[in-house]
Parts: sequence; C-alpha cells; structure tokens
Amino acid sequence: MAMEEEEEGEKARMGKLGSYGGEVRLLLEDTEEESASEEIMLLWGIQQPTLSKPNSFVSQTSLKLSLDSCGHSLSILQSPSSLGTPGVTGSVMWDSGVVLGKFLEHSVDSGMLLLQGKKIVELGSGCGLVGCIAALLGGEVILTDLPDRLRLLRKNIETNMRHGSLRGSVTATELTWGEDPDPEIVEPMPDYVLGSDVVYSEGAVIDLLETLGQLSGPNTTIFLAGELRNDAILEYFIEAAMSNFTIGRVDQTLWHPDYRSNRVVLYVLVKK
Ligand SMILES: C[S@@+](CC[C@H](N)C(=O)[O-])C[C@H]1O[C@@H](n2cnc3c(N)ncnc32)[C@H](O)[C@@H]1O
Repeated sequence: MAMEEEEEGEKARMGKLGSYGGEVRLLLEDTEEESASEEIMLLWGIQQPTLSKPNSFVSQTSLKLSLDSCGHSLSILQSPSSLGTPGVTGSVMWDSGVVLGKFLEHSVDSGMLLLQGKKIVELGSGCGLVGCIAALLGGEVILTDLPDRLRLLRKNIETNMRHGSLRGSVTATELTWGEDPDPEIVEPMPDYVLGSDVVYSEGAVIDLLETLGQLSGPNTTIFLAGELRNDAILEYFIEAAMSNFTIGRVDQTLWHPDYRSNRVVLYVLVKK
C-alpha cells in the first residue's frame, strides 16, 4: 500500500467517542472477530507487555498505597492478606487503577474531559482509588462492588474524602454484574461509567457486558483500563463488546505523562 493510502487509513481509524475530547484509535474491521484479533496482535506486538514490569505504581504487599492526586495526598488502605483468597481480588490495587485515576485527572486538567457535576458510576471499585479521584474532580460518584468488598471500600472513602474542599460527592453501594442495578444507579443514567482491571475472568465477561449495557444511555461514556495479562480473555471481551458498543483505544500519549505502562490498556466505549 502506498504511504499516503496507509496514512489515510490510519486517519480514518482515529476519531472522538462520547464526551471525551481526545482522539482515539477506533476498532473498525469488517467483522467483530477480525477487529478483536487485530487489536490483540497490535497490542501484544507493539507494547510487548510481558517484557515490562508489572505493578510499577503499586505495591501489593503494603498495607496502603500513597498517591498525590488533585492537590491531595491520598492514602488507600489495602488488605494484602486477602490477595491469595480465591475470588478476593479487590483487596489490593492494580496499576490500571492508578493509570485510570491519573488519566482522569490529566484529562480534566488538559480540558479533554469535564467531570464537574456529572453522574459517575464505577464498577468493581476494589479499594476505591479511581472513584475517589473522580469525586475530587467534581463528579457525583457511586462506587460499586460485590457485597463483601464494601467494608474496605467504605473505609477508604471515609479516610480520603473528608476534605472540606471535596468538589463532588461519593457513596458506595453493592452492584453485582449481571444482576439488576438499584434504581439510584440507573435513574438517571450515568454520564460516565469507569472500571479498572475488571476484564480478567472469562466467566464474568458476559455479566459485565450486561451491566455496561444497563448503565449506558445515549449520553454515557465508558472508560475501561485493563492489565495486559491474558490475551484470550481480552480478545473475547472485545469481540463480545463490539456487538453493542463502539470501542476506541486511548493512546498512551494522552495519559498522564508520569503514569504510562506497556502492561496497561485504556479504552473508551459508547453504546451503538
Ligand atoms: C482485579 S480487581 C480491580 C479492583 C480495582 N478496580 C483496581 O483497579 O484496583 C476486580 C474488581 O472487580 C470486582 N468484581 C469481580 N467480579 C464481580 C462481579 N461479578 N460483580 C461485581 N464486581 C465484581 C472485584 O470484587 C474487584 O473489586
């Protein structure tokens, strides 16, 4: 293919999605299967995730993660002793949570995103860092997780959201993917839905997509950050998601400059 044609093709793939002001790389192929497999080949080929260090921004053996965000020193409590317990994955932080939180801060600071006064729901909040940052940026945030993860989540909200200067609001409630959400979550529909490291189990993909569908109206923008640890599960998610959502990948040049990692990927989704 001539260079100009290649450049044209690349331009055609770039576009804006939902309420995010940055240009994203759209996943557009003839079939959903082709799109998903091309995306996985590109990601693993270009980013070579297995060659870079996992958990660059978190320490999963520490009792807390300290992070500066929005002019505040956040202190996120972790429960490393629960990490080995089957099913307990929300007890420590993952890099993709730090990347997503700092991406939101950077996007608001650079005028690409407006969270002030917006309704935001976070799925699988775990320790709660992402939702807390969204509230510091002015969002009206509902953090959600499985019922038995809410204790640590609420403790972290209490510890970090006491600032008199908190611009938004923050609450935590139960939401199990695939089950009907409480009315407060969907009435009105959220402006934004957030999730970090929520695509990690093949068994949960369909339930997660059902919940994303239930929480998405015509004006809802979804941001999902993920760890590049299992290509088959991510490919399965992308292929299934493309039936109902348009998906764009946010290039690392648009992330917070100090929080970029080849082991993390960030997508924007909007309902078709
Ligand atoms: C790997 S952790 C990520 C936690 C956090 N978002 C982060 O980035 O550190 C996955 C989160 O999804 C939640 N989760 C897993 N399956 C779920 C389900 N079926 N319904 C709701 N939440 C679920 C877990 O409880 C956990 O908090």
